[in-house]
Amino acid sequence: MIVMDGKKIAADIRAELKARAAAFFSKKAIRVGLAVVLIGDEAASAVYVRNKIKACEEVGIRSVLKQLPAETSQEEAERVVMALAEDPAVHGILVQLPLPRHLDASRILSRIPSSKDVDGFSAENIGLLARGETCTVACTPLGVMELLKRYRIPTEGKRAVVLGRSNIVGKPMAMLLTNADATVTVCHSKTRELGAICREADILISAIGRPKFVTADMVKEGAVVIDVGINRVDGKLCGDVDYEALTEKAAYMTPVPGGVGPMTVAMLLRNTVDAAEKQV
Ligand code: GUN
Repeated sequence: MIVMDGKKIAADIRAELKARAAAFFSKKAIRVGLAVVLIGDEAASAVYVRNKIKACEEVGIRSVLKQLPAETSQEEAERVVMALAEDPAVHGILVQLPLPRHLDASRILSRIPSSKDVDGFSAENIGLLARGETCTVACTPLGVMELLKRYRIPTEGKRAVVLGRSNIVGKPMAMLLTNADATVTVCHSKTRELGAICREADILISAIGRPKFVTADMVKEGAVVIDVGINRVDGKLCGDVDYEALTEKAAYMTPVPGGVGPMTVAMLLRNTVDAAEKQV
């Protein structure tokens, strides 16, 4: 089994981006800027946001953190996003999800102009992705595609199974794989005969957030197994896949941590530099 080293590849990508961010600065005399909106006090979100901000620093992207209390009103949240939308020094805006339950995430996200939507969550970007046209793509599925590309794993004509149908991962993942000529099945909590479907997969991607959900009997010999899950069990991070049980069976596999996670952050930085270069 070949371990897909997302940590290493993400570091390579950050080095490329550092050069692009420096070139942008010397040409435009302002830094590439990313604004991160964090509402509430969900512990996992705070960790993810801290990682994103640290990565920005490393590649020379200026980050602005707008941290708002859990009881922030809908109007206030939208106002903050609208102000960032107007700010010429902010090239990308990210609203960390999930939001506190009283907030309407769709309405807040719709305040992000498509040109600054570095998460690729806007209706316009999702629509373009569905059409197979150029657009900004959600960071996690984009990171998975980048891993497949860098390990030269072909997708054309392959059977891909995506576990999870979220707007953040499952749905855009299925669209990207479809656009890359794979035959894609999306499974979710209501899927019947899930094991049999997974066993058909040449490429199996799990994004459901349940530790050790993907067991060895669900995986075809020689499959590529991509683990998007980040679960905390007894204070330790683990993915959705029973990694140990699959080391002899899978051909390629991503570890957790050190697989998809760092790729997500690298793709966010890349989307931000891309957005800055497109804005004048
Ligand atoms: N929450 C979990 N993943 C993501 C992501 O990629 N972007 C944002 N904004 N929130 C998330």
